[in-house]
Amino acid sequence: MDKIVITGGRKLKGDIEISGAKNAALPIMAAALLTDEESVIENVPDLRDIQTMIRLLRSLGVKALYDHGRVLVRPGKSLKPIASYKLVSTMRASVCVLGPLLARMGEAQVSLPGGCVIGPRPIDLHLKGLEALGAQIEVQHGYVNARAIKKLKGNDIYLGGAFGSSVLATANVMMAAVLARGVTTIENAACEPEIVDLARFLKKMGAKIAGEGSPSIEIEGVKKLKGVRYGIIPDRIEAGTYMVASAMAGGDVNIRQVEPSHQNALIDKFREAGIRVDKMKTSIRIRRSGRLKPVDVATLSYPGFPTDLQAQMMALMTVTPGISVITEKIYPDRFMHVSELNRMGARIFLEGPSAIVHGVKRLSGAPVMASDLRASAALVIAGLVAEGTTEVQRVYHLDRGYEKLEIKLSSLGASVHREKE
Ligand code: EPZ
Repeated sequence: MDKIVITGGRKLKGDIEISGAKNAALPIMAAALLTDEESVIENVPDLRDIQTMIRLLRSLGVKALYDHGRVLVRPGKSLKPIASYKLVSTMRASVCVLGPLLARMGEAQVSLPGGCVIGPRPIDLHLKGLEALGAQIEVQHGYVNARAIKKLKGNDIYLGGAFGSSVLATANVMMAAVLARGVTTIENAACEPEIVDLARFLKKMGAKIAGEGSPSIEIEGVKKLKGVRYGIIPDRIEAGTYMVASAMAGGDVNIRQVEPSHQNALIDKFREAGIRVDKMKTSIRIRRSGRLKPVDVATLSYPGFPTDLQAQMMALMTVTPGISVITEKIYPDRFMHVSELNRMGARIFLEGPSAIVHGVKRLSGAPVMASDLRASAALVIAGLVAEGTTEVQRVYHLDRGYEKLEIKLSSLGASVHREKE
């Protein structure tokens, strides 16, 4: 298995380009099932999760392929509506084929995703929403069996849970509702940019949707959708990760091909921490030379601070003089990076869903590993300033969500390379 080897101490300088958003591409690839016609999805990053989704679509009897940033999906007249445990257990986002399969085929059998290293991740809101549209749902032998005896019918649905709105539950219900009879209103819908991107894709296919990006989405069902060509938005989490890396290492970095308004929560915290941020039309420039100031961060659903940047932000706080508090409000157990960062010399104490981070003068390089994508990214970021060499193992986690990570960081002057173990 490969590892990423980082020698700390170099400042970053130059330009990098951000790839298309993984978390927008995955549900949009599932939404392409809503027609029998071919769709072409562009600006799709070359990642392991995208390949997993292609394998899943193929297992449903769909022609699907990836070629140089483009995904072609040709579903044809009939789909095999079964998503197996083998595929769903390797990638939770597979659950977003449930809505489209139910809408198109009137039935779906999708494996329950099961446990996840970032904590419990139930799908009760997905099922509640689909039931409200008239689906009969049974959970048996580890599978969700959903059936629409009659055609799905629009309804008013409240989709909030104990931790707020749900991104993929909103996506699933939206995808089922576009072909249902009548009008569906989703209240407490997720406002994430990936939901807006999905709505735009569906509208291009011929769906009638209003209110995307707000907590109240209205969908008027249509009879049929068509295949389209569509370009995915930039990955705000990848962009945020490079913003944090640039602030951590210091220097002057221009991050291109981004949507700056998607980064407002991070930019706000950066300014509080004394990091210079310039927003341009499609790029963000990060400059840091002086001392960092401690900040407190609480993760929230969009437009709040993203949970997917919590680990990276924590890496930055480890070398910020003073005490910073990071509270995780989406996944209260998402802290597996803490013990690994502490192995590198950080001083982080966990108090329930909060991490108290005492800034240290320096980190020291070490062999580390994490079992989650964003936690692994945080360790790479820590390695950029650690004395000596840091080896981040289990690189397959990074390959799920970061395209050409070591190449992009090296182009900014970091000493980072991939090694075969
Ligand atoms: C999406 O997961 C992202 N994944 C995650 O990205 C991200 O961390 C998460 O949203 C939160 O922003 C994709 O888009 C593919 P949720 P999702 O349903 O939709 C609770 C990454 O690193 N909940 O919005 O599955 C849940 O437990 C990742 O790229 C219920 O209670 O997350 C959590 O506390 C990992 N019942 C909260 O809601 C449900 O039925 C938000 O989760 C569903 C969720």
